[in-house]
Amino acid sequence: MYFWHMSAAPIGIFDSGYGGLTVFRSIAAQLPQYDYIYLGDNARAPYGNRSFDTVHQYTLECVQWFFKMGCPLVILACNTASAKALRTIQQRDLPTLAPGKRVLGVIRPTAEVIGNYSNSKVVGVLGTKGTVTSGSYEIEINKFFPEVRVHQQACPMWVPLAENGEYASPGADYFVQKYLNELLAAAPGLDTILLACTHYPLLADKIKQYLPAGIKVVAQGEIVANSLTDYLHRHPEIETAISRHGQQHFYTTDDTSDFDLHATNFFGRQVASQHLALGGV
Ligand code: DGL
Repeated sequence: MYFWHMSAAPIGIFDSGYGGLTVFRSIAAQLPQYDYIYLGDNARAPYGNRSFDTVHQYTLECVQWFFKMGCPLVILACNTASAKALRTIQQRDLPTLAPGKRVLGVIRPTAEVIGNYSNSKVVGVLGTKGTVTSGSYEIEINKFFPEVRVHQQACPMWVPLAENGEYASPGADYFVQKYLNELLAAAPGLDTILLACTHYPLLADKIKQYLPAGIKVVAQGEIVANSLTDYLHRHPEIETAISRHGQQHFYTTDDTSDFDLHATNFFGRQVASQHLALGGV
């Protein structure tokens, strides 16, 4: 394992498992000049049904590892971790642990723009149980778009379908229809659906297949990449602390051959991961 303790180091990208790779893919396409370390906490995934305390504890442990690797900036490319751990990490942990470093999530950048996609101002948010029960999307979207009505729907079976490579199989159809029908029944006039879980883009084709015409399906990858580009322009003190060799390193807390096999579906190309043994794993 290489530790970056020079003046510049990679951006850390974190997810409970593979989902963050859909966001990393867009970030790497837009900002290929930087170095990145991706960490999937596959050994403890999914996070979606876990308590606030557990998600905070797991996420913080991973963030501290990124800091040990030298990363000046960590992106929580996971809605569940962004909803349940980010605020505590930013407000309580960072000031004592690493005051010069930054941790950003995926909810705020998405909330800042999602209202622009909708004409009817009725938006559906599909996420894990943890993201939905946190209420984070409704709160954040209404800060930027008070006129937008947000309908949330938890889709607890979708992460296992994506993680197990079953997202295109006939078995996925039942659960795709089930959650979409529940959302559509509760949200008349809805014209925009946000995939508020970084795993869900793999199910996008099936989701579109079961939606009435005219409903937009929005994934977060490009939104988060645009927001990061803008953030780095506004924060030269962070930007200059990021190394620039165009390198990408992948770590998983679980089996590397399994990770490499499934990661291709999310990242769009072959990756070779290394194993990370975290204290509590
Ligand atoms: N990819 C995560 C998200 O965006 C959820 C996966 C999980 O449940 O661990 O919410």
